[in-house]
Amino acid sequence: MKPRVVSGMRPTGKLHLGHLVGALKNWTGLQQKYDCFYFVADWHALTSEYADTTELVASAYDNVADWIAAGLDPERSTFFIQSLVPEHAELYLLLSMVVPIPWLERVPTYKEQREQLLEKDLSTIGFLGYPLLQTADVAMYDAQFVPVGDDQVPHLELSREVVRRFNNFYGAKAGVKDGETIVKGVLVEPEPLLTTFPRLPGLDNRKMSKSYGNAIDLSDDAEAVRKKVMRMYTDPKRIRADIPGTVEGNPVFLYHDAFNADTAEVEDLKTRYRAGKVGDVEVKTKLAAALNGALDPMRERRQQALARPGWIRDILFEGSKRARQVGVGTMERVRDAMRVSYR
Ligand code: TRP
Repeated sequence: MKPRVVSGMRPTGKLHLGHLVGALKNWTGLQQKYDCFYFVADWHALTSEYADTTELVASAYDNVADWIAAGLDPERSTFFIQSLVPEHAELYLLLSMVVPIPWLERVPTYKEQREQLLEKDLSTIGFLGYPLLQTADVAMYDAQFVPVGDDQVPHLELSREVVRRFNNFYGAKAGVKDGETIVKGVLVEPEPLLTTFPRLPGLDNRKMSKSYGNAIDLSDDAEAVRKKVMRMYTDPKRIRADIPGTVEGNPVFLYHDAFNADTAEVEDLKTRYRAGKVGDVEVKTKLAAALNGALDPMRERRQQALARPGWIRDILFEGSKRARQVGVGTMERVRDAMRVSYR
């Protein structure tokens, strides 16, 4: 049996290149070696987007079309919708009985996000409970590994602490070693599988984000990509093509490194850029061509997926059924361990 991997993505809008290099490529590569469960975290989206839910379901379907476009294979991995597996809510509730509120208040993203998203009222139970719901998501499937970006490490750390506390309460005592009680776990402690690729900046060199309008979407057509690349931030000191430029940390070259498979071309552009012997237009035109070359096969797979009406929906409903079978089993085990089973 292959080890289990679980990861989720919130359906908050279109997916962009950041999702591709930060998550989807990683997810795709794991499909051989692991039994992968990938899901649409719609309840997690609600924790911050509860005031406007109009786009949520459409985003869910659209995002999964991009997953398939990026190379995820619904035959090999299980795709599902979090809210179609209501066992997640039950596990979250039972975990909430043993988790002290300060553990959640201490999670760094909690304070940060509340300060950053001032336009939203995030003083809700749902938002405080975000990492606890995430814990339920992964513990439900006995996931050993959770592919995530480094921003998610504190959430996984909390998950491990929650699972340990739960196991200490309800795991079978298997003996004492060096004065410490050994418990047989009910739930598995998950470990992050970190994405190795460095984070891609947005077109303006800020963090890539839909809300900044600085992203290239996976569903952008070739002309949209070209236009966006042409207005990309680059070395601001280079007001003329004959001024030597800086390659390191320059978003245009970070994108070349990420997407241009022609390494000789990239090296040549870098050398000439450093020497002040190439214009921005050439560097960017070549980047747009490389990007479109990388996106073309994805566009095609996306079109094929969307040309089959109801296909993605069927995948998600079937996958949710399969996920639910696992979830039902886990909840029986959890209720038994907690001695709240009625027969
Ligand atoms: N918090 C994750 C993110 O923003 C999304 C998520 C929800 C998730 N549940 C999960 C990721 C479980 C991994 C496992 O990226």
